Amino acid sequence: MPPQPSRRTFLQLTGVSAASVALGVSAPASADATPARPIPDGAFALGVASGDPRPDGFVLWTRLAPTPLATDGHGGMPSADVPVQYEVAEDSGFRRVVRRGLAIATPDLAHAVHPEVRGLQPGREYFYRFRVGNQLSPTGRTKTLPATGDSFSFATASCQAWYHGYFPAHRDIARRTPDAVFFLGDYIYEYGINAGDNLWREGVTVGPEHAVEIETLEQYRLRYGLFKSDPDLQAAHAAAPWFLVWDDHEVQNNYGAANSLYGVPPELFVHRRAVAYRAYYENLPFALDSLPDGPDGRIYRRYDVGSLARVHLLDTRQYRDPLPVDEADRLSEQRTIMGAEQERWLYDGLRGSRTPWNLVAGGVVLTAITDDRTEQWDGYPANRRRVLEAMGDAGTAVMLTGDIHRHVASELKLDFADPASRTVGVELVCSSIGSNGDGVDTDQYAKDWLQHPYVKLYNARRGYVHTTLTRSELTAEFVTFPYIQADANAQPNVVARFRTPAVDPRLEAL
Ligand SMILES: [Fe+2]
Repeated sequence: MPPQPSRRTFLQLTGVSAASVALGVSAPASADATPARPIPDGAFALGVASGDPRPDGFVLWTRLAPTPLATDGHGGMPSADVPVQYEVAEDSGFRRVVRRGLAIATPDLAHAVHPEVRGLQPGREYFYRFRVGNQLSPTGRTKTLPATGDSFSFATASCQAWYHGYFPAHRDIARRTPDAVFFLGDYIYEYGINAGDNLWREGVTVGPEHAVEIETLEQYRLRYGLFKSDPDLQAAHAAAPWFLVWDDHEVQNNYGAANSLYGVPPELFVHRRAVAYRAYYENLPFALDSLPDGPDGRIYRRYDVGSLARVHLLDTRQYRDPLPVDEADRLSEQRTIMGAEQERWLYDGLRGSRTPWNLVAGGVVLTAITDDRTEQWDGYPANRRRVLEAMGDAGTAVMLTGDIHRHVASELKLDFADPASRTVGVELVCSSIGSNGDGVDTDQYAKDWLQHPYVKLYNARRGYVHTTLTRSELTAEFVTFPYIQADANAQPNVVARFRTPAVDPRLEAL
């Protein structure tokens, strides 16, 4: 292991202090709600969001950025603390306000605030908005988790390469106002963006500051500003609470733990991981306990959707073993993609659950496909076997993943090598929101997937998955769009619909 920089080093590196962090969540009682000097118009240009719902509340988010594409990454904000008021109401007209509060946006956290609201009613819709000076934000809609729960609807999405196209999928997710959205990684991409190369979103241009691979905190912040300027992405955030996990591109393509695929030495790469994790937290609706500590950020966590489902959110990047050096290494019993601590946490959480469903959300595909896909769970078969065994001891598993830019539906076999072995659940892999551009229904990789009797769908267009759970069954709808590069106006198609019974799970095409 490389020497780990101390927490103090990272605090100096990124200029944050515990006090200023807490201010992004709340404010001293004496704080003045009026900014010391006026904030430029358009302070809420990056929209609003909510996340990490509980039965009694959620986290709210906004980041003040009147000039989201200011090249220095500071969003056009002055280098000063700014008070941000928020309110939560039972109605979209804010006649029945149930919470008001104040949080201090600081330059240290890119003027993001993450107030946590508690003490609300379970299983109900709320509306929220922010105010800074005389500027009012757009209104967001969110929902607490139910106390018991007869049904739960959610969209799953991943991989939104802004430069590859528009986001009609987010527009459609917003229209449906699900109970929650799961975003499964690749919220940004780190690559340089260049016309004539990878800029396929028609009718837009980007400045030279976007043409290089991002490495610094300011560059990561600017990249979030660029991606989050999309109105349909903002609409999807404003329509439902989000659960997020990261995959690789929030830092660098195919990294694992402190290892870069591109030869950055580990002792330098952890610095990059620290600033990337920091910008991720700043730009998304995470609770304060997910604030990274230097290069370490705990995002694996658990939620209960009443007595209907238990949600396990995984981190399959930060603790993974390096890519296998040979076949014996790949097959080693010790190999882990989750790390020993997170593995124990997951197995305890699965075996301790009493719900008919367990939703397990992660960055990369669990189902066995080919032995050379070593960057996904195919590179970690012992860890996969342990997960499947724990799933088999609990309520029906629903694995939610993305990463491959394809829609795939599969049955999770206790032993994928034995077609007769028990099915412990299903995996719903969502295609990308934007990555790879327009897409096609099928391509040359389809046969690798469809060769397996347990794989029931493969589609290479852009889209998302919409799922509804009840106590007795799951219904999953795979939505695609005929194009995304020209504009955001493509209409949705449902390419497949499956039903899975909670008892004796399988994928039944509807
Ligand atoms: Fe991706």
